[in-house]
Amino acid sequence: MINRRDFLHQGAMGAAGLLLAPKTGWASAAGSRAADSRIEVLFDEPLGTISPNIYGHFVENLSGVLYDGIWLGEKSPVANIDGIRKSLIEHMRKIKATVIRFPGGCFADSYDWRDGVGPAEKRPRRTNFWAMGESEKAPASHRYDPNAVGTNEFVHFCNLIGAEPYLAANVRSLPASAFQQWVEYCNSPAGSTTLADARVAAGYPDPFRVKYWGVGNESWGCGGEFTAQEYAVEFRRYSTWLPTYGDNLNLIASGPNTDDWNWTREFLTEVLRKGPGALRRIYGMALHHYAWNLSRGKTQDWAAGKGEALKFDNVDWYELLREGERMEGLVTGHWQVLSEFDRQHRVKLVVDEWGPWYRPGSEATPGDQLEQMPTLRDAVFSGMTLDIFNRHPEKVAMANCAQLINCLNSLYLAHEDKFVITPVGHVFDLYSSHQGGDALRTVFSAPNVHYDRDGQSASYWGLKGSASVREKSLTITAVNPSTSEPRLAEIALRGATVKEASMRFLSNADIHAHNTFEQKEVIVPQTKPLSMSGGTLAAEFPPASVVALNIQLN
Ligand code: AHR
Repeated sequence: MINRRDFLHQGAMGAAGLLLAPKTGWASAAGSRAADSRIEVLFDEPLGTISPNIYGHFVENLSGVLYDGIWLGEKSPVANIDGIRKSLIEHMRKIKATVIRFPGGCFADSYDWRDGVGPAEKRPRRTNFWAMGESEKAPASHRYDPNAVGTNEFVHFCNLIGAEPYLAANVRSLPASAFQQWVEYCNSPAGSTTLADARVAAGYPDPFRVKYWGVGNESWGCGGEFTAQEYAVEFRRYSTWLPTYGDNLNLIASGPNTDDWNWTREFLTEVLRKGPGALRRIYGMALHHYAWNLSRGKTQDWAAGKGEALKFDNVDWYELLREGERMEGLVTGHWQVLSEFDRQHRVKLVVDEWGPWYRPGSEATPGDQLEQMPTLRDAVFSGMTLDIFNRHPEKVAMANCAQLINCLNSLYLAHEDKFVITPVGHVFDLYSSHQGGDALRTVFSAPNVHYDRDGQSASYWGLKGSASVREKSLTITAVNPSTSEPRLAEIALRGATVKEASMRFLSNADIHAHNTFEQKEVIVPQTKPLSMSGGTLAAEFPPASVVALNIQLN
C-alpha cells in the first residue's frame, strides 16, 4: 500500500433542506414550468472581501508544464513573447490571473535558484526532481533541467500577465542564507548589492518586489520528511531574518496534507514556543488537498484508489465531487485549529495546491507526467471549489489550482504549436468578476440529487454556489451537480433590485465532454437570457453545469 507521501518521496518513482419556491410558472428554454429551487442573496450579511489571490495558479518545473507548456524559447516558430507562449499570456490576461506559484511543489526543495540566473548559455543542467518518473522518450528538458527559465523569466511571465509571483524557497536542501540571497536578488534596489547588480546586468533594473514566499513545500513529505515540530524549528530559523527593502514579505508556512489537524496544531505549538511574536512572521498556512480516491471506500492505496479522467460513470462523477467538497470542512477545520493559537486570526489559509488527481492515461501529449484531460466533471469540481473559497473570504487569502498547464487540473493544454483552453480554464473566466468583491451570505435551496451507489441509495445536494457584489454589480456563481436534472431557481435579492442581468454557463449533454487540440470548442461559455416575472428573476441551471450570473443593480 502506498500513500501520496511515499509516492512523492523519491521523485515520483511510482508515477506509473429544501425550501420550495412558490409554484410560479417560468418561461424557460425547457418550456413553462415551476421553479424547484431558490437563491436568496442577503445584502445585509456581508462575509468579507474575496481576495483576488483565491484565483491563483501553480506552475511547477514538472514534465510538460514549464518546457513546452509555458516556455518555447525566443527562437521558436510558435508565437511567443520573449520565449513565453503568447496564446497562454493572452488568455491569462483575459481571466485576470492574479498570482502564480513557482517553481514547485516537490521540485522547489531540490531547486537552487542560483542555477537559473545569469547568462542562459552558462546555466547548468540539473537532474529534475521528477526525472525518474519520466519515460525514456521524454524530452531531455523534462528530465534534466536546462535552467532556461529561472527567476527572471518567471517574474517576466508574471509581469506580462499582470500577476504577482509567489516563490517557494528550498528548505530541504539549501541553507537559510540561500533563501535570504534569493530575496536579495529579487528585491534589493539597483546599485545596492552584488546580487542587484547581477539582476540589473540581466536586464531587470527595477526590483521584482516579490511579496509572497513559501518556506518549503509539503515539508511532511517530499520537502524533507520533517515532523511538524522539526519543520517549525526550521521555519523559525528561515524566517528569523530576511531583508525587506521597505516591502512586507508574506511568508507561507508549509501546512497540512488534507485533514492532518495534528500538523497544524503541532507546528503552531512549536513555532510559538519562543513567544507569540512568531505569529507576525506567518502570513499564511498552506493547505493541500487533492481529490484522488474514487474507490468508493475500498482502498486508501494511492495508486489503486485513483479513478480515470475520461472513463467514469455516474457514481464516479458524484464520488469526485464528494472528495472535492471536503475542502469546505478542511478550511473550517484548520481555521478552528488556527484559532486555538491565534485568536485574532492574523494567519490565513493559503490553499496552494488543489484539484482532482487521476491515474495516468488521458494525457493530450502522451508521456507528459501527471498530465490529465479535464472534462466537464472537472469544471463542475472547480466551480464548486472556487465557490467554497468565496464563501470563506476571511479565512482563505490565496488558492492556487494545481497546475496551470499540461498537468493535473489544468486550465490549458499545449504541445509545440497546439494550444487549447480546457473547461477548467473557462471556469476561471466565468468566475473572474468575484475577484475583490464583497462576499454576501447566500442561501441555496434545491431538491437533493438521488442516485444508486453500488446498490445503496445515495444523495447529493442539488445546487450550491456563492455571491459577491462590487459597487452596482452582483456576481452569483453556482454549480448544478445533477447529471440529469435541470434546476429552475428563483433569485431573491434581499436588499437590492435588478436593473439588468445576464447568464453565462458551461454544460454539455455528455458528462465526459472535453476540449482537445482538434476540437477546441466542445465546452465553451454559452449565454442564455434570464427571465423576470413580477420583478423576480429566475435562472435555469442545466444538468451538469457551472453558471455565472452577472446582475447590474439599481
Ligand atoms: O502537484 C504535484 C505535486 O503534488 C506537487 O509537486 C506536490 O507539492 C504535491 O504532492
